[in-house]
Amino acid sequence: TGRIVVAVDGPSGSGKSTVSRRLAAALDARYLDTGAMYRAVTWAVLSSGVDPTDTDAVAKIAGEIELTIGTDPTAPHIAADGTLLDAEIRGPRVTAAVSAVAAVPAVRQTLVAMQRGIIAAAERIVVEGRDIGTVVASDAELKVYLTASADARARRRSAEYATDVSATAADLARRDRLDSTRPVDPLQQAPDAVVLDTTEMGIDEAVERLRDLLQGRV
Ligand code: C5P
Repeated sequence: TGRIVVAVDGPSGSGKSTVSRRLAAALDARYLDTGAMYRAVTWAVLSSGVDPTDTDAVAKIAGEIELTIGTDPTAPHIAADGTLLDAEIRGPRVTAAVSAVAAVPAVRQTLVAMQRGIIAAAERIVVEGRDIGTVVASDAELKVYLTASADARARRRSAEYATDVSATAADLARRDRLDSTRPVDPLQQAPDAVVLDTTEMGIDEAVERLRDLLQGRV
């Protein structure tokens, strides 16, 4: 046993959050949801009336915001300047604007530095996002890239948020495109990542596979 960092990347609806939380709980590890951090900055941008495409103003907010992020896999909480945002950051306005905010290099610089600090302070941690295996924790002991068919991802998301399937599919396609094509730290499969396609795979099976891959290390 020693230090273990597991990086979990992939597009929205691939099962990242559920698998990452379950794996972290099973390993008695911490859990970091980096998407929640981009969402919290986006929430602050929108609530201060700043245009999400005004990169200077967005960068300023990211630099000034006081984020508090919990790493308990059974109850992850996030707060900005003392306000709990667990529900607010999942709303449609934040979801629509988050990819633009996450594309601003200064925002990524600030949040990646914070993420690395949290990872360094943990003995074991499962970290989920888009650029964890490629950028944030490129030395992770295990890198996982979770995918699923566009259909399966849209169905899961619309069940989770009680939204229309075709509107959800369109939103996922739009975010995937923005996240994969942005110049800075796009969503990308790390060359040394294990790819798991969860289209036909249940959560339990995915978690089991990852635990198998960690055999002997934990
Ligand atoms: O994972 P989640 O859907 O909550 O992420 C929300 C958005 O945050 C993504 O669509 C992406 O634009 C951004 N993100 C990112 N890098 C990460 C995690 C999330 O750019 N490591």
